[in-house]
Amino acid sequence: MRIDGVWHRSVRIDEADGWSVRILDQTRLPWAVEWLRLVDEDQVAHAIRSMQTRGAPLIGATAAYGVALAMRRDPSALEGVCAMLAETRPTAINLRWAIDRMLGALRNLPVQDRTAAAYAEAAAIADDDAATCEAIGRNGLPLIAEIAARKPRVNILTHCNAGWLATVDWGTALAPIYMAHDAGIPVHVWVDETRPRNQGAALTAFELGAHGVAHTVVADNAGGHLMQHGQVDLVIVGTDRVTRTGDVANKIGTYLKALAARDNGVPFWVALPHSTLDMRVGDGVAEIPIEERSPAEVTDLTGRTADGRIETIRVAAAGSPAANPAFDVTPARLVTGLITERGRIPATPDAIAAMYPEKAA
Ligand code: MRU
Repeated sequence: MRIDGVWHRSVRIDEADGWSVRILDQTRLPWAVEWLRLVDEDQVAHAIRSMQTRGAPLIGATAAYGVALAMRRDPSALEGVCAMLAETRPTAINLRWAIDRMLGALRNLPVQDRTAAAYAEAAAIADDDAATCEAIGRNGLPLIAEIAARKPRVNILTHCNAGWLATVDWGTALAPIYMAHDAGIPVHVWVDETRPRNQGAALTAFELGAHGVAHTVVADNAGGHLMQHGQVDLVIVGTDRVTRTGDVANKIGTYLKALAARDNGVPFWVALPHSTLDMRVGDGVAEIPIEERSPAEVTDLTGRTADGRIETIRVAAAGSPAANPAFDVTPARLVTGLITERGRIPATPDAIAAMYPEKAA
């Protein structure tokens, strides 16, 4: 990712001390670019729960570094630390995937060898995510290039944030868009604001702006209208969990975009790394746990005042209760296809099993 011309990863080891973990505080974006320093597993857990760091692949990689920080203090605490970190958010399967990978790498090692191995495994997870997302970008690029061959500008709608702020680098849904832009293809992105936490308006718009990609923030409810009027060529979203049948969990509101896309004949693509596949789940609507977050995220809004203060104000009527399901599930039948690091496939059980035979086994 590029901020002010400098390339960063969304999670990294602190260059000065060589062991603590740096993340961008995403609760402060887009108003302030602040790198937090995390020194133990409790700070990592807090950062994930409070969404200082977020996005399915990124919380997996950050949790892996959280295990490394914990091993530094007490390498005998492996199982308890992993159980604690795995509980921080329930929907994104990448978190459990990363924790399971750490457990697999460390469990059978003598305690004195665990710290170095944990840092190495966390770094491997981060490297894997960056390379995977880059490959997703390459595999999604032709979808945009095909449209560009017959239109002067490609209009893409995306929901939430599935860019480099949600991964170690590149992003999933946004990776093909960055590559198209870098290849000189005129792209324009409709950015759903993504209430209640506004990951679109705050984070996706910030990322696209930093990369110089043309974009327009729209209210969440505008997508159907834009599609009816031929202003969306393609929808690309990220995901927090894809089942073996191709059902897709993603930020609340994704399902409504898929319905509108189907009604208007707009292709609806989902970008995902291998770590987002959950082959144990068949029926996404029935089986994927949906995170319920604080009602305050719905009743309140945070923004920057004209004099530069970051403030939260209530926008809902005083005393009215609110509900806050953070994700929904788009059934596979509404998904045009999946963009993976291995290629593009239909969202069907056979295609998924054939693309990932080692997971199907
Ligand atoms: O609650 P968040 O902000 O962590 O939700 C993130 C999303 O829904 C993303 O679309 C998803 O994690 C894919 S990120 C590459």
